[in-house]
Amino acid sequence: MTADSQFPLRDGILHAEAIPLSELADRYGTPLYVYSRTALQSAWHRYAQAIAGRNALICYGVKANSNLAILHEFQRLGTGFDIVSGGELERILAAGARPDRVVFSGVGKQGWEIRKALTTGIKCFNVESATELERLADIAQAIGVRAPVSLRVNPDVDAHTHPYISTGLKENKFGVDIRLAPDLYRQARQLPGLEIVGVDCHIGSQITQVAPYLDALDKLLNLIDILAADGITLKHLDLGGGLGIRYTDETPPDPAQLLDPVFAKLSARGLDHLQVILEPGRSLVGNAGVLLTRVEYLKRTEVRNFAIVDAAMNDLMRPALYQAWHEVVPVAPRAGTPVATYDIVGPICESGDWLARDRALPLEQGDLLAILSTGAYAFTMSSQYNTRPRAAEVLVDGQHSWLVRPRETIQDLFAQERIPHQR
Ligand code: LLP
Repeated sequence: MTADSQFPLRDGILHAEAIPLSELADRYGTPLYVYSRTALQSAWHRYAQAIAGRNALICYGVKANSNLAILHEFQRLGTGFDIVSGGELERILAAGARPDRVVFSGVGKQGWEIRKALTTGIKCFNVESATELERLADIAQAIGVRAPVSLRVNPDVDAHTHPYISTGLKENKFGVDIRLAPDLYRQARQLPGLEIVGVDCHIGSQITQVAPYLDALDKLLNLIDILAADGITLKHLDLGGGLGIRYTDETPPDPAQLLDPVFAKLSARGLDHLQVILEPGRSLVGNAGVLLTRVEYLKRTEVRNFAIVDAAMNDLMRPALYQAWHEVVPVAPRAGTPVATYDIVGPICESGDWLARDRALPLEQGDLLAILSTGAYAFTMSSQYNTRPRAAEVLVDGQHSWLVRPRETIQDLFAQERIPHQR
């Protein structure tokens, strides 16, 4: 099993903490996202331990799971936030975030988003191009403030992950070529609207080795030397997010396995004063959530068996988009049900609508399944395709459960649409 230990099998029934998942499905319906608060806390504690006594800040990558309840929990635990849109900024503020712990990443920041972040007073803009730098400087000057900036450099290292979630290679749209960064910093220094505070990179996601991070760090440290020679000093170094989780048999490093050598390298270079920032998303929430879905039909064809469930690619698009593997577990398997090999598919009218393939499972119609490791990039990437309301979300803590987002109603889906008058 790959889920956090907060999803234990007890008396033959899969639980979220102390509550049988079958009870949650009966109470809230399916498809249903269920998150464990204790699992969120233990994921955070692994980071907290790794940075204890260090000058470091963990900025949770909001895009992984942006439910206000999750954001509030992390803000209570003491994380900062990594945002990529004005929408995410509004969300974290609604969840009670401290603006001075917020970094703003992304290649396409719009004017209104920059203005909103400047007036909110965030910690840093992670700037991804020369043109963005100019826009940021202009807007900051117009409203009479200085924008704290870090250049997101592209260190051209291979994170050895899926091509869609690899971001630190030359051919990716992200960041500024590290060889051009010194010139850009010199330009930034001349612009009155800017205050240079850091440097950052983000090399990809679901990274299962430490080595690519350390390669990137070496390149950043060389850049820091070049800048120092020019009299440009920085306050922080942000290594982005990307630490992987176990979906099946991966063995990703612990936060400490990543951070210990980072701190050691900084010390060796006399750079202890630099604050280290990480922007983890998946590794804080991925294994703290499961998706519950019910088997509507079993359909046997000449070549395949299908279990058609009530969740679909609109609820969880990672399999369709990345051929991602999520473990599927019957919540309360019945003795004597024959095992067969199934493709677990949704009701959407696309062959790409599958959630898992070739799984040997004991299934009957009406059975409840848990799709594991769906705390990250699952609900946040969901849509209403086929006019399917988005799933409800529940947070569990021990015996307690809270509905932290009710299921959308069908009426919600088209309430904002208008039929024009005939002319
Ligand atoms: N910082 C930046 C600038 C990012 O672009 C990302 C993720 C993160 C931090 C957080 O990365 P994490 O720690 O979660 O790996 N939808 C894909 C993942 C896309 C990641 C995009 N950027 C998936 O489902 O695998």
